[in-house]
Amino acid sequence: MTSKPDPPSLRPVDRVAIVGTGLIGTSIAMAAARAGCSVRGWDVDAGVVARAAARSTLTACATAEGAVADADLVIVCTPIGGVARSVANALHDAPGAIVADAASIKEHVVRETRAIAAPVDLPRYVPSHPLGGSERSGPEHASASVVDGIVWALTPTDVVEPEAVDLLERWIERIGARPVRLSPERHDRLVAFASHLPQVASTSLMGLAAAEEAGEPEILLLAAGGFRDLTRLAASNPSLWSEILLANRGQVASAIDLYVARLMAIRGEVLEGRGDEVERTFDQAKQARLGLGTAHARDQADRPRRRRGRAGRDPGRTGGAGADHRGPRRRPGQHRGPADRPLAGGRSRDRPRHRRCGRRRPSRRRAGCRRVRPDPVGLGWGSMRIRAAPGGRLQGSIRVAGDKSIAHRWLILASTASSRSRLTGLPSVLDVGSTASTLANLTVKARPALDLWARNVSSRVEGGGSTWNDTLDGVSHGRLEVEGEGRDGLVEPRGRLDCGNAGTSMRLLAGLLAAAPFTTELTGDPSLSSRPMERVASPLRSMGAAVRTTDGHAPISVTGGRLVGIEHRTEVPSAQVKGAVLLAGVWASGETVVLESAPTRDHTERAFEALGAPVHRDGRRVGISRFQHEGFGAAVPGDPSSAAFVVAAAALTGSEVTVEGVGLNPTRLHFLEVLSRMGVATETSVAGEELGEPVGSIHVLSPDALRATTVDADELPLVIDEVPVLAMLGTHAPAETRFLGASELRVKESDRLTALVEGIRALGGQAAAEADDLVIAGGGLRGGVASSGGDHRLAMAFAVGALAGDRPSEVAGMEAAAVSFPDFVGALRSLGAAIEVIG
Ligand code: S3P
Repeated sequence: MTSKPDPPSLRPVDRVAIVGTGLIGTSIAMAAARAGCSVRGWDVDAGVVARAAARSTLTACATAEGAVADADLVIVCTPIGGVARSVANALHDAPGAIVADAASIKEHVVRETRAIAAPVDLPRYVPSHPLGGSERSGPEHASASVVDGIVWALTPTDVVEPEAVDLLERWIERIGARPVRLSPERHDRLVAFASHLPQVASTSLMGLAAAEEAGEPEILLLAAGGFRDLTRLAASNPSLWSEILLANRGQVASAIDLYVARLMAIRGEVLEGRGDEVERTFDQAKQARLGLGTAHARDQADRPRRRRGRAGRDPGRTGGAGADHRGPRRRPGQHRGPADRPLAGGRSRDRPRHRRCGRRRPSRRRAGCRRVRPDPVGLGWGSMRIRAAPGGRLQGSIRVAGDKSIAHRWLILASTASSRSRLTGLPSVLDVGSTASTLANLTVKARPALDLWARNVSSRVEGGGSTWNDTLDGVSHGRLEVEGEGRDGLVEPRGRLDCGNAGTSMRLLAGLLAAAPFTTELTGDPSLSSRPMERVASPLRSMGAAVRTTDGHAPISVTGGRLVGIEHRTEVPSAQVKGAVLLAGVWASGETVVLESAPTRDHTERAFEALGAPVHRDGRRVGISRFQHEGFGAAVPGDPSSAAFVVAAAALTGSEVTVEGVGLNPTRLHFLEVLSRMGVATETSVAGEELGEPVGSIHVLSPDALRATTVDADELPLVIDEVPVLAMLGTHAPAETRFLGASELRVKESDRLTALVEGIRALGGQAAAEADDLVIAGGGLRGGVASSGGDHRLAMAFAVGALAGDRPSEVAGMEAAAVSFPDFVGALRSLGAAIEVIG
């Protein structure tokens, strides 16, 4: 065990050093001088610091060491690329100082700094971001007023000394800005929307006009005030912005997706002459904009008077309205919540109120924070629209496509077995196709078959024309013979491997590759690129693999190493992480143990057990040791998470339906327990077993009246994929249904917590996200139009919920269902559901 370093002794801020004296650095220097601090400065460009000194009272220094020596506070204001190094140097050269930075991206900078700074110095580093600036750059444009009233985000992680944060916070108030505490991840998500997206929008509008101008030179002549207002930011520093956008690429891409979706919605309203909707769209935006102005004016009026007292005298904390903008004060050592927060009870206390979304229009609160996955199928966003109507009764029995979770694992096991395997029932779904194609690139003998199968999947996409309204293709087409050559037969891939939208592929493959003697780069689509990957990278690193993430996200690179067994306690309950560690564990020396914080699906350990591996299970503990398995034959059972949509559709329409050939692994059936609390009775019967997985049928009995329920945080990992459809059942219960501690929903294929609330409201129901709880009001759905936002489970859940609405509803983006349930619409129609494709 390493002992915790002694807390640093810190001084109230009197002497300030600025490293990087461009516009923001010099503006801070001027505001600091105005508040009575002495300020020294340094810049890599001696001309820049000379100009800064000419414009302010800052003392120009010839070296960074000279500038920071004796400082109480160092603020690093360099471009992002140099921040971590400058912070590390300042921490070293100014041992008694608090060091902050002004970078506009936090996760990336925090991670880089942690990697290079001495750990003992890190308690003095307070990551921060003053949200001020101008489209102009250089010290000659600096002014203390740039800092006046701006929000200054502080994003300390749990290693930071609370006293350092407090001192910095007080100093920020003193120079006239407003400190706000939030986590690095949340900061990056919010600035993508509030700061980076406006830059992109302004730049693209200006670029468009400039391109048009080539043919119509008058266009810019006519560009009056509105155009000028909107394109002001297009004059910003190109290299600075390219660096910022790339460092926050996942979040920026999600924000752009949302913006595009909004533009497309307005386009549709205009094109189809829906004047009322256009007016409503404008009215909503107008109200929100007016609210923003009022809020800003009120904030300004309420702000405590700026203090200009001599530095060094503690000005004390400001109270009143200013305090509203700070996060709650932290006790020493209190954890702030890392990017990967535990699922159970993981309520974020450091989350600021979203100033833009909120107040007057709660339904839009998180509009800017949602991640969506556009165009999962490559057909154009929202390309399939359906209408679902109440009144249909479902009848009969059905099979659903093979289980995605199992298919990923068995494909990996087949590709690394020492001999041939035969798999049937593999689902023709995009996610599993991603695993097959990545494995094709890692194998030699197995490659042709895997490759062919993966290509076959993408031609079977719902809405793509080939299988639309066919019989359930995924069930029958799923035979695959894989020539395994053992784990040692894995070969270095040529180029990056694309895991598409599949989080399970990326995380499990990271485990598989942790001991492979080469480097593999794994990438994904925008949705996957914004999902947290440190949760899997970190244990694999402890085992001896070199795993690099991009600010905690994809792309990731895995360089295999000689692995040693570890005992890994999962902070976030995750079957994907457990699976990855176990897949690495069979290469490692000694035993590898995973201790789960809450039970999750156990397909990896079941398969290994069935293959004869030394697996030791004891409650939430599972251990595994080095083992090479042989080829096997097995039929992938139907996916219970897909069955859940059929079961729910039956329950909502008062029907009796049987799902056959479905996996009955107890770690996947907790949704049936929740359903029973909601008044939906089901019977399961096991008919056989496939590689350790029980298989059989689920029969839905005609339900009693629906009841509301509460799903506790502890239960949530066991119904994580079924929350969307359970929530839709909740909308039809007579009282409030709650899903507690559901923060993990935010990092699924979309931010499902937000998207569910919005979707339910769009369908005429009531729902809210209260911190990390999902609250469904019940009382039914009046009907409306919802969009999947590209998330397969949301597409299907909205369609199912609409089957019991007061009137027909529409769901856009239905093609997303192909990610896990090929021909979902055809399947429900074949049972009698009133669903039709309308576009
Ligand atoms: C899966 C585990 C779950 C689940 C996902 C599939 C798996 O994710 O949501 O659809 O196959 O291991 P987490 O492990 O992130 O909870």
